Amino acid sequence: MIPGVFLIGLPGAGKTTVGRQLARRLQLPFVDSDQVIEERIGCSIRAFFEREGEAAFRDIEEAVIDELTLGAACVLSTGGGAVLRPANRRRLRQRGRVFYLRSTPDELSRRLRHDRTRPLLQVTDPLSRLRELYAARDPLYRETAHYVIETGRPSVATLVNMILMQL
Ligand code: S3P
Repeated sequence: MIPGVFLIGLPGAGKTTVGRQLARRLQLPFVDSDQVIEERIGCSIRAFFEREGEAAFRDIEEAVIDELTLGAACVLSTGGGAVLRPANRRRLRQRGRVFYLRSTPDELSRRLRHDRTRPLLQVTDPLSRLRELYAARDPLYRETAHYVIETGRPSVATLVNMILMQL
């Protein structure tokens, strides 16, 4: 039986796009933890961050990841900051196969140049911000993941095949 497949990585790495196609190929449900959180809080993550702050968001994220990783097998795309909490890192790694979609800050900044939804990137210099996030989180993604998938050149279909080969 295929265990849950959990995708981690920085915003813009392609977790949702790759996750949807991967789920289709595996005939598993696709779940996006950010979407589940938004349904639960009843507003956008960006609005929630502004109103309640990051710590309140991380508490909800931890509870949602706990539930989703314990539920029926699925392809789960997690928010970029999910690895910040040790409990999330432990649960993801123990409860499924974890793939780190790794991209460089330059690639991410190109992909996200028109994005207005990510609260942490609403700054005057998103590239510097992405570099900081990368430096802080790359070790955490590597510690959590069973596999690292380099997202630089391959198409989405190729990335999906690369993941399927490891399962
Ligand atoms: C965050 C990434 C977002 C979302 C929230 C915080 C982060 O998810 O969970 O805005 O800390 O990197 P994506 O990685 O899907 O953008």
